[in-house]
Amino acid sequence: MFRNSHNFSISNGQFTNIEAQNNYYSTHDALSKLNPVADASYKSGHYSSCFPGTRVEILTSILEWATDHQSPPLFWLYGIAGTGKSSIAQTLCMQLQEKGFSVASFFCSRNSAERTNIKKIVPTIAHSIAIVETTYYEYVFHALEENPHIAKYSVLEQIKLLLLSSNTPLQKNWAIVIDGLDECADMEMAKDLLEALIDNAHELLAHIFIASREEKAMSMKFKNSSSATKVALHELQKSVVQADIATYIKFNLSQIEGLAPSLETCVKYLVNQSDRLFIYASTAVKYIAGGYSSLDRIQMLMKQQRLNGIFALYVEILQNVTVHLDDIEIQKLLRVLHFVMCLRKSTINQGTGVSPGR
Ligand SMILES: Nc1ncnc2c1ncn2[C@@H]1O[C@H](COP(=O)(O)OP(=O)(O)OP(=O)(O)O)[C@@H](O)[C@H]1O
Ligand SMILES: [Mg+2]
Repeated sequence: MFRNSHNFSISNGQFTNIEAQNNYYSTHDALSKLNPVADASYKSGHYSSCFPGTRVEILTSILEWATDHQSPPLFWLYGIAGTGKSSIAQTLCMQLQEKGFSVASFFCSRNSAERTNIKKIVPTIAHSIAIVETTYYEYVFHALEENPHIAKYSVLEQIKLLLLSSNTPLQKNWAIVIDGLDECADMEMAKDLLEALIDNAHELLAHIFIASREEKAMSMKFKNSSSATKVALHELQKSVVQADIATYIKFNLSQIEGLAPSLETCVKYLVNQSDRLFIYASTAVKYIAGGYSSLDRIQMLMKQQRLNGIFALYVEILQNVTVHLDDIEIQKLLRVLHFVMCLRKSTINQGTGVSPGR
């Protein structure tokens, strides 16, 4: 026990075994070479989950896919901005966990330098698995001894070393969830990631769910692949999506004092305007609830003739913001808005201090 030991003393016959503690720290030291992102998992709560009773069908079908070992190893949920992909991904992680799955997730974000970096995805997922699975941990430990710079490797090499079941099967039932792949900075690398996942689909450690907007590069990769189940969120039956949006709007408006008499009309108007966009519904609800008079706000919105849907809503919000500003302040606000609109994605992430959507 004392072989190779030095700089220690035993006093008063007290002896404490700190072996277990040392193991804990060495485990985490070894894995730190993966350089994982600390706040990329669904547990960080970057997105809210779906309102209860909404998205039931799509969530059920994704859960069935995850549970069925015969189903294609990849699932691609794609859709235009604001259709609710991230909310579904967040809810999916929670429901998978409830069903007894172990979940490794990575939520990309163009607002975070780390969560926009494609090379962070596989090592972070591997880290999540390794802290739970002993044999996988041992495998990763040795892989890192031989390849201490895995975190910097190409995504293909990372997948080959860290995500293939031929290297080490897992004991528990795992599902991997990646959201917002289109938010990563390097679309070429995102394409490489998809290609590597598709090429190795039947050897992956677990089923992988991917949600993203429909970037051309991504659809090209998925299009001819039989290894992926593909669902376009914006193409789901309109009546089903609008029933969900109605549930969400109805509940939220019914919490606002003074709207009860016109509740049905307001809900109908907002559902109609939202088309299939949850972002419309959630922005409208926040806007209406946030004013001194919610009734005034919704009435003004309903009077909008010039534009429709999300455009009408944004115009209404901007007009409302500018009501209390003088001309000079309005000019300044416009300059900021123009600046933000003209920024290219890469510039936004390079320390301008301005992040889109804020
Ligand atoms: N089922 C739902 N219940 C309640 N709110 C929802 C639901 N789905 C989406 N939302 C709300 O709608 C807005 C847009 O949703 P979300 O961010 O999930 O869209 P997205 O498709 O991921 O958009 P993007 O392409 O920009 O990433 C968010 O404010 C979200 O909270
Ligand atoms: Mg999203």
